Amino acid sequence: ASLPAFDYTVFGGTGDLALRKLLPALYLRDRAGQVAAGSRIIAVSRSALTPSDYRAKADTAIRRHVAADELDEGLLDRFLGRLDYVSVDATSDSGWSELAGRLEGRDEPVRIFYLATSPSLFGPICDRLRSAGLVTPDARVVLEKPIGRDLDSAREINEQVGAVFAEPQIYRIDHYLGKETVQNLLALRFANSLFEPLWNANHIDHVQITVAETVGVEGRGDYYDHSGALRDMVQNHLLQLVCLVGMECPISLAQESVRDEKLKVLRSLKPIEQDDIATCTVRGQYRAGAVAGGAVPAYADEPGIPAGSGTETFVALKVEIDNWRWARVPFYLRTGKRLPAKMSEIVIQFRPIPHSIFPQTAGELQANRLIVRLQPDESIRLHLMTKEPGPGGMRVRPAPLNLSFAETFGGRFPDAYERLLMDVVRGNPTLFMRRDEVEAAWQWAEAILEGWKARREQPKPYIAGTWGPSQAIALIERDGRTWHEDEIPSAAF
Ligand code: BG6
Repeated sequence: ASLPAFDYTVFGGTGDLALRKLLPALYLRDRAGQVAAGSRIIAVSRSALTPSDYRAKADTAIRRHVAADELDEGLLDRFLGRLDYVSVDATSDSGWSELAGRLEGRDEPVRIFYLATSPSLFGPICDRLRSAGLVTPDARVVLEKPIGRDLDSAREINEQVGAVFAEPQIYRIDHYLGKETVQNLLALRFANSLFEPLWNANHIDHVQITVAETVGVEGRGDYYDHSGALRDMVQNHLLQLVCLVGMECPISLAQESVRDEKLKVLRSLKPIEQDDIATCTVRGQYRAGAVAGGAVPAYADEPGIPAGSGTETFVALKVEIDNWRWARVPFYLRTGKRLPAKMSEIVIQFRPIPHSIFPQTAGELQANRLIVRLQPDESIRLHLMTKEPGPGGMRVRPAPLNLSFAETFGGRFPDAYERLLMDVVRGNPTLFMRRDEVEAAWQWAEAILEGWKARREQPKPYIAGTWGPSQAIALIERDGRTWHEDEIPSAAF
């Protein structure tokens, strides 16, 4: 079914997120024919720009961030024609009546307000939208992360926004949920009969989730230094991955079922108490080093970072889900900036076979391992033990069963924002975070932040371009396990 026409009003319209992600995503959806005639994007910010200034900015941004073979001059022109710009001050009266003038009297497109601003402005913007009479019963508001910096501030934002918009009108983005491979976890688990019977503590030894980045703070020093990796990545993206791996089968994909199941996982997370901080958490911060062959400065020497900053750029955690399915199955999580590779993956480590009939000379038996690679090179690989070919008797070795999405499906994968921006137009909130989810995630994450604070836990140094502080390796090796290293080298065959 074709989607209805929309008016996307983007607050923070000149910001990095809007220019780098939102406009390219909307252009690509328009190019794919998904944007109905009459749809508009009204960028809003404090800068005194004319609509044509803004279109020029958008033009540059789209050319920079969209692949060359996806640029089409005619379609780009049509898209730029949908853009408008209004200068509005979120904290004063300035510009609101102009914005109202642009939105009113239209033929009922879906009205969406995307708040790509600092979360401290979410409440004030919502209040002013209401005073300006712009909040229609079907209007939607999209909130970018972070929703607050702890449980209290998240609640306050949720209260403020909730006083203006009803919960079903609120779309809290976690762009990881828009990633193809993340949605694929639902298909892998619930569209196959093979895995689900094994998907529990009886058969799974542990789970690893790695979200590694090579980038540093990229000009977002001020934001990042006030956040750190736990707030920036773990409270949202990594916990969402934990939820999708850990949840029970939802009743359906419709409406609230998926979110209900995710919430149960968040509520079952075993709190990391102060006494667990030393054994279950590692905070790190990068020192100068080299990433992808290029020298990079220490975090504390990045622009906008105060000397001696105690903010973490790396976190490793040992997490447990206290419920029947996952009793005593650790989930080891790690994420960081300036690691050796941009790579996100989930590793499901199955338990060893109960009894071996193979003599020791047959080679080492390795327990099965399922690896879901989220990015790059999206794939699902299953490590199986196989007989080594040849007449020399029985020798076994692991071999991967490999499903590469690029090889199997070809084509391009839409960016997470393309999917999510259109889900808002569709009115489908399944892949967005509900208020109770955000708050449950904060409640759990906040205990770690508090533990670190109480223990004056300074981040451990790691050299940029390595896999984090040595303590992160100790965290898992203490339990007799190791972080998954890339594929079984094919040279082994
Ligand atoms: C964002 C964080 O939410 O996710 C960034 O604020 C991080 O610090 C980014 O770089 C990672 O997203 P992706 O899609 O590149 O894995």
